Amino acid sequence: MAHIIVVGAQWGDEGKGKVIDVLTDHADVVVRTQGGNNAGHTVFVGDKKFVFHLIPSGILRKNKLCVIGNGVVVDPIALIEEIDSLVQQGVKVGRNLVLSDRAHIVFPFHRMLDELREITRAKGKIGTTKRGIGPAYGDKVERVGLRLCDLLQPKIFQERLEMRIQEFNTWHKASGIEPIDFNKLHAAYRKAGDKLAPFISNTTLLLHKLHKKGASILFEGAQGTLLDVDHGTYPFVTSSNTTAGAACTGSGFPPTLINKVLGVMKSYTTRVGEGPLPTHNPELDRRLHSLGREYGASTGRPRRCGWFDAVVTRTSQIINGFDELVVTNLDGLDTVEDIKVAVAYKLGTRKVDYVPADIEELATCVPVYKTFRGWLQDTSQIKSFQKLPLRAKEYLKAICELTGATLRMVSVGASREQTIFC
Ligand code: GDP
Ligand code: IMO
Ligand code: MG
Repeated sequence: MAHIIVVGAQWGDEGKGKVIDVLTDHADVVVRTQGGNNAGHTVFVGDKKFVFHLIPSGILRKNKLCVIGNGVVVDPIALIEEIDSLVQQGVKVGRNLVLSDRAHIVFPFHRMLDELREITRAKGKIGTTKRGIGPAYGDKVERVGLRLCDLLQPKIFQERLEMRIQEFNTWHKASGIEPIDFNKLHAAYRKAGDKLAPFISNTTLLLHKLHKKGASILFEGAQGTLLDVDHGTYPFVTSSNTTAGAACTGSGFPPTLINKVLGVMKSYTTRVGEGPLPTHNPELDRRLHSLGREYGASTGRPRRCGWFDAVVTRTSQIINGFDELVVTNLDGLDTVEDIKVAVAYKLGTRKVDYVPADIEELATCVPVYKTFRGWLQDTSQIKSFQKLPLRAKEYLKAICELTGATLRMVSVGASREQTIFC
């Protein structure tokens, strides 16, 4: 029995979905604890592709329980669509999915505000996924949000929603925003609530009971450390904590019972949305995009690609305390002759080994690179660490040493089989 937190060590899209899918084979429960349907976690089973936004990536495995914890913001309509699409693809979704009664609800007005803020910010826009994540977490922190437990009590739900909509319509009257039609919204969400009601319960108590029974629990992080609202490249971040601590606050599972924290990082760096990416390299963009890779799983936007940034992953290591690391997309560098790794930044005349808090300062940081000779060999069919090209092994060893944790797994392709345990 082990309880493992899986966290993205970069700017999201590190391959967490694939890693969770592989690890679920040895677990009983998979829990999402933060974020919402801004996440896009890709899993391939044979040639079938699944992209998960709210539902934990463990749902594909038989007899595993999937939990959406209290820290997640849930768009009920999007969740029902995700469930329906999985069922259509032949996946069983029923008693194997449980939603926390404390999780907050995302409404269409959250999406509208998300979009409006991006439009009015224009040049300073964050490049959000426009899923209403920021405004929904805003309501939670402002203590005006509605939660899934409210859906179970029609009268209370109606009263609370009416109050929120009245407030919304009053506040936004002057700005010319179309008032929200309470009756229409209420009817749609009541219908969604009826569908989701059988899934909703106290997941904190459930996880506690499962732990007592000896279950192994996997906590599936969404986004990545540099998108964390506290520790990331603020304001170009998401609106939740994406780091290891969030697995506990977002589930009610105590830190003292966690056995391991696993960091997932690509062999290079990607970022989707706005904000600095110090090691950005247009040639890597071109190379990976021409292979049809590095397009956002949620929005389809091209991700910016850059060299591996050890300043970023070392910072992640400090915050998350990774016990072990998983390096994904090693095969993405198979054809690169000279591979660079940022080992520090030059900030003015100083050399620094941390990510500055101020975004303007970060924008002036110039990476200090160390260059590695590429292995120039297809790694995608290799099944053991020993059989990897020597230069690939040296590269993996170096990026893990620079990050500060031990290598546990290497991924050389999107499928389950393309996974090497170390
Ligand atoms: P997540 O959000 O962290 O789950 O990652 P995404 O699913 O958004 O993006 C990772 C992408 O890389 C997906 O398209 C995966 O199918 C793919 N992927 C994961 N690991 C590997 C790998 O080792 N090699 C290749 N070629 N693709 C991978
Ligand atoms: P997974 O779980 C990569 C980015 C958005 C934007 C910023 C804020 O698949 O790794 P938001 O909609 O959250 O307010 O957008 O965060 N972002 C992600 N980038 N992977 C993700 O999730 C992301 N979720 C949000 O692109 O820059
Ligand atoms: Mg993703």
